[in-house]
Amino acid sequence: MLYGTLVDLVPYGARFMARDHDWWNSEASFWGSMGDLQPMTRAQVERVHEEWRPHTGPRTGVAFGVQTKDGTPLGYFGINWLSYQHRVAELGAVLGERDYWGGGYGTDALLLLVDYAFETLDMRKVWLTTISSNVRVVRQMEKVGFVLEARQRRATVANGALYDALIFGRLRDGWPGYAAMVAALGLHPR
Ligand SMILES: CC(C)(COP(=O)(O)OP(=O)(O)OC[C@H]1O[C@@H](n2cnc3c(N)ncnc32)[C@H](O)[C@@H]1OP(=O)(O)O)[C@@H](O)C(=O)NCCC(=O)NCCS
Repeated sequence: MLYGTLVDLVPYGARFMARDHDWWNSEASFWGSMGDLQPMTRAQVERVHEEWRPHTGPRTGVAFGVQTKDGTPLGYFGINWLSYQHRVAELGAVLGERDYWGGGYGTDALLLLVDYAFETLDMRKVWLTTISSNVRVVRQMEKVGFVLEARQRRATVANGALYDALIFGRLRDGWPGYAAMVAALGLHPR
């Protein structure tokens, strides 16, 4: 468990999986997948969960459930892929519960995840990709010290319009730690 200020990150267990069918078929999935509007059956969602089960090979991902401090499941934050050789990790982030967007929950979850990647997994770098119209993510990237490293032009179609894909990265150098970031951003418990 990673204990935060507004949220905790916990194993992505049954309480989260039970919400996943709704989340995959919501607006959250559209943003999380850079504009896809693909309906998902319960069986398809279960197959995704099956792929996440621990296996015997090298671990290349870490799935956390994000929950409020009183235990309400909000969504998924995790490492979608990592390399222990290169010590880089690609992050993924989706708060399925739309009512919780814009309230600082995602930023707290991101700080916990970045801190975990650097301080626990000893990664050198974290990165993620988003659609250029995703203002919430772009703002979060600025706040948490990510740098825009690449813009893939017209990489995705969303609601019939073309958008760029933005790749943001953050190096471990200069990471002050979770507590210092929380203080700098003024996050406080609700
Ligand atoms: C992206 C996501 C994780 C961010 O979490 P969040 O809790 O909503 O984000 P926060 O509230 O911590 O921060 C969002 C910032 O964007 C700002 N923001 C929100 N809506 C905005 C808008 N329409 N225009 C400009 N800024 C906006 C907020 O004000 C906040 O900045 P501030 O703290 O300076 O006020 C969450 O919104 C989410 O899951 N969205 C759907 C899926 C998704 O987009 N996943 C990311 C894929 S890369």
